Amino acid sequence: MISTLRFPRRSYTGWGSIAKLFEELEDLKPSRILVVTDQTLVKIGLVHQYLSPLNKQFNVSLYTDVEPEPSLACAERLAAYAREGGFDCVIGLGGGSALDLAKIAAVISQNEGDTADYLNLSGTRKLKTRGVPKILIPTTSGTGSEVTDIAVVSLEGTKDVVTHDFLLADIAIVDPQLTLTVPKRITAATGIDALTHAVEAFLSVNANEATDALAIKAVELIAGSLRNAVENGENQEARTAMSYGSYLAGLAFFNAGVAGVHALAYPLGSQFKLPHGESNAVLLPYVMKTISSTCRNKLNRVCNILTNHGEERSEEEILTLFYKLVESVGLPTTLKEYGIPESSLTSLTEDAIKQKRLLARSPKPLGKDEIYQIYQMAFNGLN
Ligand SMILES: [Fe+2]
Repeated sequence: MISTLRFPRRSYTGWGSIAKLFEELEDLKPSRILVVTDQTLVKIGLVHQYLSPLNKQFNVSLYTDVEPEPSLACAERLAAYAREGGFDCVIGLGGGSALDLAKIAAVISQNEGDTADYLNLSGTRKLKTRGVPKILIPTTSGTGSEVTDIAVVSLEGTKDVVTHDFLLADIAIVDPQLTLTVPKRITAATGIDALTHAVEAFLSVNANEATDALAIKAVELIAGSLRNAVENGENQEARTAMSYGSYLAGLAFFNAGVAGVHALAYPLGSQFKLPHGESNAVLLPYVMKTISSTCRNKLNRVCNILTNHGEERSEEEILTLFYKLVESVGLPTTLKEYGIPESSLTSLTEDAIKQKRLLARSPKPLGKDEIYQIYQMAFNGLN
């Protein structure tokens, strides 16, 4: 089998790697920089702390109209703003939403038409140019957006993506010190998102030796540090391991793909506005149980890393292990807890089945019946 590995053109990782931003900009010599970030990061002073030194040497405009789970309208507003502004470099600083929108600003603004024209499920156009250079700097350890070629937008009732090589970062800077102030719940949710990327990539039908190596190292790093990062946010070692784990998980899933957990999570985000990481967390145990019979060996390897000892496990034990993991970082483990009515499980199923791109990577084919059953298990939980 022939397999490929794709990466951003250059990545910097590790404590203090943000210093490389200045060097890269000195090489690029942009005349107008657009920074896409969100209001919270401005308010807590993170944008000022890390980006204000740029103002001395560069012409920098800040764009903060970034919604969580950004809508198509939000993406269109930004693309129009970027087109008007004539920027020749885009910096994305933030969580997955800011980074995804930065990709759209850099690429869509330089192509004809709107973001809607380039959506995976309903778009009709093909991107013609790469756009302006983009530098992506995550401030959470989770989405992996800094190393993927995908931008996710929320539509009514579902989500869709713009995905193309052109959306890959020119430079990714993954500095754990930017994650020190992330609150507990967001650390937990983004951490489970990163773990889900690694696990789904490892179990994907498109996995290969290289993506397996990335995924397994990511599971090791995240399993060894997630609880510590949630409980002791200022712990540099835990934040550094989570940052590296999230980065490797991002590379693994960019190349091997995510599957059932993400396919079923998208409708929870768009219909009920659950944050992406929490949508994954509440479904992860039930999807793992459902697919376990088709990937028992690989799933056991993951479980052995998570529990630190090796043993064979039944479907029920796999379910309980992931359930306890989500519970241990303080996240809800049932859809009930989010106030989602049982009557909506049908419409969630109808939306999830549309995510053919993701479902195609599942080791076990997930049709309507299986998807409905997973939502029903996630509704009720273990009781
Ligand atoms: Fe994700």
